[in-house]
Amino acid sequence: MLFSFLAIGTALKAGVSLVSAGLWFMPLLLAGLAYFHYDVYDPESHPINQKQLRRQYDFIVVGGGSAGAVIASRLSEIPQWTVLLLEAGPDENEITDVPSLSAYLQLSNLDWQYKTEPTGTCQACLGMNGGRCNWPRGKVLGGSSVLNYMLYVRGNRRDYDHWEQQGNPGWGYDTVLHYFKKSEDNRNPYLTRTPYHKTGGYLTVQESPWRTPLVVAFVDAAKQHGYSIRDINGERQTGFMIAQGTIRRGSRCSTSKAFIRPIRLRRNLHIALESHVTRILINPKTKQAYGVQFERYGMRQIAFATREVIVSAGTINTPQLLMLSGIGPAEHLQKIGIKVLQNSRVGDNLQDHVGMTGLTFLIDKPVSIVQNRFQPMAITMQYILHERGPMTTLGGVEGLAFVHSKFSNRSEDYPDIQFHMAPASMNSDGGVQVRKILGITDHLYETVFRPIDNRDVWTLMPLLLRPRSRGVIRLRSKNPFHYPLIYANYFKERKDIETLIEGVKIALKISESRAFKQFNSRLHRIPIPGCRKYGFNNDLYWECAIRHLTMTIYHPVGTCKMGPPTDPTSVVDSRLRVYGIGNLRVIDASIMPTIVSGNTNAPTIMIGEKGADMIKEDWLRPLYNKPPGFIGQHLLTSS
Ligand SMILES: Cc1cc2nc3c(=O)[nH]c(=O)nc-3n(C[C@H](O)[C@H](O)[C@H](O)COP(=O)(O)OP(=O)(O)OC[C@H]3O[C@@H](n4cnc5c(N)ncnc54)[C@H](O)[C@@H]3O)c2cc1C
Ligand SMILES: *[C@@H]1O[C@H](CO)[C@@H](O)[C@H](O)[C@H]1NC(C)=O
Repeated sequence: MLFSFLAIGTALKAGVSLVSAGLWFMPLLLAGLAYFHYDVYDPESHPINQKQLRRQYDFIVVGGGSAGAVIASRLSEIPQWTVLLLEAGPDENEITDVPSLSAYLQLSNLDWQYKTEPTGTCQACLGMNGGRCNWPRGKVLGGSSVLNYMLYVRGNRRDYDHWEQQGNPGWGYDTVLHYFKKSEDNRNPYLTRTPYHKTGGYLTVQESPWRTPLVVAFVDAAKQHGYSIRDINGERQTGFMIAQGTIRRGSRCSTSKAFIRPIRLRRNLHIALESHVTRILINPKTKQAYGVQFERYGMRQIAFATREVIVSAGTINTPQLLMLSGIGPAEHLQKIGIKVLQNSRVGDNLQDHVGMTGLTFLIDKPVSIVQNRFQPMAITMQYILHERGPMTTLGGVEGLAFVHSKFSNRSEDYPDIQFHMAPASMNSDGGVQVRKILGITDHLYETVFRPIDNRDVWTLMPLLLRPRSRGVIRLRSKNPFHYPLIYANYFKERKDIETLIEGVKIALKISESRAFKQFNSRLHRIPIPGCRKYGFNNDLYWECAIRHLTMTIYHPVGTCKMGPPTDPTSVVDSRLRVYGIGNLRVIDASIMPTIVSGNTNAPTIMIGEKGADMIKEDWLRPLYNKPPGFIGQHLLTSS
């Protein structure tokens, strides 16, 4: 979620030209970070952008995001292998490091800036300009892990057990837990004493060093509603928790920072930034991938892969690239004018976590994040000197809860609703940034939120964990630079909206807990203009509100579904190899057969870890004649 607007002023342009009106403290921030952090806290410098590339590599990884950065790091552990990582965007910068500035990265040039198609009969995103929801995606080394709100959530063990039951051996919870832990460096000593967490991995996980009394009230409220405060990534998921995030000493820990920077000097890994891959080269006779075509600094180039091409371009760009390369629904490709090499259901099975934003509770104590109350000077210095304070907030989200609606069985640990709790809402930055990145119409903002601009508030965002509706991604044209068409199809299935209405009602109950009485918390009651006809605070009203203030929490997955050969909707097999095409894998969030019941960054990193291990097994096992699961430890010592 996204109430991260401690900066005053307009959106950053790439975080490079920073001193737009009102962002006066940025030079101080940058100078301070450079002075105090240099070498001391960030000994791993930025990756090297390789100018001169070789003609061929053993492996080419397309996209350096949550999964791609992990794969490039892990494959280059084998000193005999050469690896090329191609990333369309540039490197991270000082602004991307600051957790509270997350929302300012959206609509900058580090964001692909996708939008869904207007939803038509599905009736969602109605409060947004043109009836379209914004779908930000990272276009930067580290991918969406550079734009995201850093929440560290793994999902429910049953998600993975279901994947395995659907015909994907090796993806059950007990196996994937190993890969979650492989990455992890958890800084919470209580958690690392449990079997679910570990220290010493590349990815730092910790709580924000700063919190408001509102999140304390939020977790206190758990008991009153029959829930426990627990590690929602541990033995059981149902319950409340103060969020953990992928941050390191108060700064964002993207997958580039975690997995690439420490190994940046490996000679067998080349990283090429600003390299937009336009086609996978596939021999039409043998149906084998042998390289990629890409554009870099205005020039078309080619690189050859002697072993494999691995596509990790994310849930939108991976199906786009596959379709551009002739892998996809035959009738669609023919219509666009692309020669079909493999007819498969690429782009189908799109799933996302959708919820409602803007549910706002007014309070009478000055404890929430109100942008114009924070003194940027003091707060900036607190961040620079001590890596503490409000600038370390996880995109504004402090609390998480997993609860049961009436549609889910309470005696099973498989909740169907998630809450993001934030000590702020749409009005907390006076309508400057949050409203803009969501694309809320002027009319809606002026009517509902303008009257409470900059008042103390907090919010609960109900989210649907396992949507039934499925969306689809298709090509707009065969030009690789034309954005694909995104049909989210939110609420296509009636059950989805019914479940979310229950979510809103549970949120209202939680907001009325004793723990919130001390703040005199109460619901903000100005109705949404298009929903007034239903009255206020009844099921029909909430249905209308959800259809207006529809919000993705940016978790699209599933467009290159993993599944057995007997399932005609599968695009990749359980070793993530593309059906029908040799030497080609997809390893990113798009392979999820069903969306996990929680935020998707940690699961995607896990997919990267497991995918890289499977590649090592497939190419090294024959050499060493060892059973599956073996990775030659003596080969893993290169630097
Ligand atoms: C605003 C926002 C907030 C979020 N908040 C959270 C959160 O708090 N917690 C959480 O768990 N998850 C969160 N997520 C979701 C999570 O970050 C994603 O699920 C995850 O990063 C997806 O990883 P990926 O590897 O599939 O794709 P990405 O990380 O998006 O990586 C794809 C990479 O491929 C590159 N690429 C694409 N096309 C090409 C091409 N043709 N050539 C070369 N390179 C290309 C892209 O530039 C990008 O770097 C959030 C996402 C967003 C956008
Ligand atoms: C709920 O789950 C329990 C435990 O798995 C099971 O015994 C029970 O039959 C379930 N109830 C319903 C209504 O499905």
